[in-house]
Amino acid sequence: MTDGRVAVLVSGGGTNLQALIDAQEKGIIKSGRIVLVVSSNPDAYALTRAKNAGIPTFVAEKGSGFEKSIVAALDAAKVDFIVLAGFMKILSAGFVRRYERRIINVHPSLIPSFCGEGFYGLRVHQAALDYGVKVTGATVHFVNEIPDGGEIIAQKAVAIRENDTAETLQKRVMRLAEHKILPLALEKVLSESRR
Ligand code: GAR
Repeated sequence: MTDGRVAVLVSGGGTNLQALIDAQEKGIIKSGRIVLVVSSNPDAYALTRAKNAGIPTFVAEKGSGFEKSIVAALDAAKVDFIVLAGFMKILSAGFVRRYERRIINVHPSLIPSFCGEGFYGLRVHQAALDYGVKVTGATVHFVNEIPDGGEIIAQKAVAIRENDTAETLQKRVMRLAEHKILPLALEKVLSESRR
C-alpha cells in the first residue's frame, strides 16, 4: 500500500520528467503525484523543469553521504514511490531493498538487450547501432539489486533507420517509446499499489 507520493530521480535533461509532469497535468497519472525531484547533478535542466512546474527539488551532493542525503530528503517529503528517469547513478542494494517494488526505471532499449552496468544514455543507442539490430525501443521495469534486472512492466519497440546516429535514435526512442510508456507504467503501478 502506498499514498502515491512520488519522487522522480534525475541527472540530466529531464525529458522523461517532463513527460510525467505533462501526464499528471492531463490526468493520465491520477493515482499519485510528484512531490519531489531529486538530482545527482546541480546543473541538470531537469531541475528547471521541476521548478517551472512548482515541484520541490533536492540536489544530492556526490561523496560518502550521497544516498543518505537522498533517503533523508525522501523521508522528509514522505515519498513512498520512486521513478528513476535518466538517473545516472546505480543505487546500493540497501537502498533498493528499502523501497522493494516501489522503484521503477526507464531504460532506452528492449531489455535484456543493451542493458546492465555501463549501458546508459547515448552508449545504449551506439551499442544497438554497432550490433546492427533493426529494432530497439524502451523498457520500464521495477528496480532490484541487479542493474536493469527487475521485473518488466512495459516495453515499446522502435524501428532503426539506415541513416540513424546514436543522437537521432535516442531522440526517436524518447519521443515514440520512453515518453509514452513511462507515464502509463507509473499510473499502472501506482493504481495497483493503492488497492
Ligand atoms: C533517457 O533516454 C533514459 O532512458 C536514459 O537516459 C536518458 C535520460 O533522458 N537512462 C538510462 O540510460 C539509464 N540506464 P532525460 O533526462 O531527458 O529523461
